[in-house]
Amino acid sequence: LLVVIFAVVLGLNLRQNTDQLKPTFIARCEEFKGYDCDKIWDAFEQAYVGRDPCNVPMEAYDPFIAAAPLKPTCNRMMFWSKTKDIVHDFTEKTDCYLTVEDSLLGSVLDGLTWCGKEGSSETFTTGCPGWTDCVNNTVRSFWNRVSTAFADVACGAVTAMLNGSIVTPFHPASIFASIEVKRFDYPRVKSLNVVLVTQENTVTNCTNASLKDLQKELDQGITYTCKEVTETQIQDCSSHPEKPCGACW
Ligand code: APR
Repeated sequence: LLVVIFAVVLGLNLRQNTDQLKPTFIARCEEFKGYDCDKIWDAFEQAYVGRDPCNVPMEAYDPFIAAAPLKPTCNRMMFWSKTKDIVHDFTEKTDCYLTVEDSLLGSVLDGLTWCGKEGSSETFTTGCPGWTDCVNNTVRSFWNRVSTAFADVACGAVTAMLNGSIVTPFHPASIFASIEVKRFDYPRVKSLNVVLVTQENTVTNCTNASLKDLQKELDQGITYTCKEVTETQIQDCSSHPEKPCGACW
């Protein structure tokens, strides 16, 4: 009897695991018209199913990325670091900028956790390694890979929302610094415009040392600007989507 109970519980668990991620993925995918979401899901699964969740290199996601290529939207691409909530509140409510999480590939997996297991064909959503548990973990490798693809198609004037409430808004370990900025090539990318999100009692401004490092990193020819904008100003812009895009900063 115990064995039966164990098998049933295990079976339900596996079922639940698969049942959690796929429907969310498919439903979010279907918001984008003209894609074969089942085919995209299959390409996604190929990356990690049956693999050690700490040994999924970025390249494992190449077929998934190829299944729904990111489209360049020159002058409207928004990068960010440590500003997730405010940037997405803004991009959702206004029609000015697009982040990677607004693209099909980013949106289907935003906020989710998944991994596989050696010798299993299942997708798990619990018990997966955390972001810093191992370098090549399932989730982190995906965000590294999709961020690479997003930065590779960036063009024209590029915007980045950085966090002015921390000492190092341009942190070398961030995806923005370690992957995205390195892929901004002139003349494809013409300018990088930093929006430094500040509070009223601000810690950091555009003279910050890490922002000097950012300027040094930029490819010759790319123009750099930085503007301090309070969180309140950005929230005001989010609640007035009828305002022209240039009116916020
Ligand atoms: N634990 C879990 N998730 C993490 C962790 C962590 N320690 N660090 C980063 N992440 C994930 C989270 O989903 C987080 O919201 O990466 C996201 C971005 O992390 P940040 O440190 O805020 O910023 P950064 O590493 O610079 O990445 C943001 O990458 O997503 C792309 O194009 C996007 O420009 C953006 C950049």
